[in-house]
Amino acid sequence: MIAEVALTAGTSLGAGLGAAAVLARGRSLRVQLVGLAALGVSVPLLAVLSSGLLMLGRDELLALGLACLAGSAALAGALLLGRRIRSGIDALRAAPAAVAAGDLSARAPRGGPAEIDALAESFNVMAERLEELFDARRRLVAWAGHDLRTPIASLRVMIEAVEDGLASPGEYLPHMRAQVEALSGLVDDLFELARLDAGDLRLDLRDEPAAALVEAAVGRVRAEAAARGVHVAADVPDPSWTVRCAPDKVGRVLDNLLTNALRHTPRHGEVRLALQGRGAELEMAVEDSGDGLPPETLARMFDHFWRGDPARARDGAGAGLGLAIARGLVEAHGGRIWAENRERGGARVVFTLPVAAGVAPGG
Ligand SMILES: Nc1ncnc2c1ncn2[C@@H]1O[C@H](COP(=O)(O)OP(=O)(O)O)[C@@H](O)[C@H]1O
Ligand SMILES: [Mg+2]
Repeated sequence: MIAEVALTAGTSLGAGLGAAAVLARGRSLRVQLVGLAALGVSVPLLAVLSSGLLMLGRDELLALGLACLAGSAALAGALLLGRRIRSGIDALRAAPAAVAAGDLSARAPRGGPAEIDALAESFNVMAERLEELFDARRRLVAWAGHDLRTPIASLRVMIEAVEDGLASPGEYLPHMRAQVEALSGLVDDLFELARLDAGDLRLDLRDEPAAALVEAAVGRVRAEAAARGVHVAADVPDPSWTVRCAPDKVGRVLDNLLTNALRHTPRHGEVRLALQGRGAELEMAVEDSGDGLPPETLARMFDHFWRGDPARARDGAGAGLGLAIARGLVEAHGGRIWAENRERGGARVVFTLPVAAGVAPGG
């Protein structure tokens, strides 16, 4: 008897392992599931039945009938489950195919088993990011089409006029220099942004007195402010505040914020650069008494190539890159940058920088 039981047990173990090995090699999840259910039910039942027949030899038909019934129920369940999994995967397959065919707005449907739903979610996040990148590229091409071609076309016209003897070189030289400077500024901005986007920016960090940064930046815009009839003021409560930063990059951020503020402030208005200590950070705010920021501007002003009034670019206002660069530079320092409307009117753009180790400004 012991030998027969051992034989039955050994045979069922062998049969189960063999069948599982064959199933594991299958390529269809559905077939694997159905096979697994059939295996799970039939191997133990066959083992129980055969030992029952050996030992008792009675009621074998009834036991066989029950075994078949249980097996069929398990198979039906596995078939249903397999179908659900398969249809989830089919739905998921359509979205990458659509993206590959160029429809970047295609998204995988959500729902279904948790693992497949998680896969759909990851795919959708990836598709969203891809769409953003392609949008940025489209905007870059549109922007290059306009902002780079306009000064080049104007340079060509001036050169042709000089060649044809319609104008003297001296007459056009200052205009040509201005166009070349505008062009090189745009190209520099583009490279800076590309480096920031690629995370390929080297910061020469040192401890710099915040007052020196403020003074230098205000000095650089003084002439433009005077020409626009705008008063520029600096508010540095404590001259000993020191920040850990790359001074040239912070200078760049301040220049971008101050030029924006000047351009949006009417004659006799005021632009103010104010510092405030906040624990381990120093807040630098550029405020103006201009029109302030409408909701769309607030939502989009830090986007690449976005500008409130594209027509303004013609009088040299920029290509909508200034704030995108400012944000990239501030974040590279581990700071944050944001914009808000002032209660008494006008805009306020604020960024934070880490204070130098061992120097903690008060609140
Ligand atoms: N101080 C400000 N007041 C009002 N609007 C502003 C101010 N600063 C920025 N903006 C808005 O944000 C947009 C994006 O600014 P920016 O990235 O510097 O690009 P650009 O100066 O080339 O237009 C501007 O076109 C303008 O509409
Ligand atoms: Mg600007």
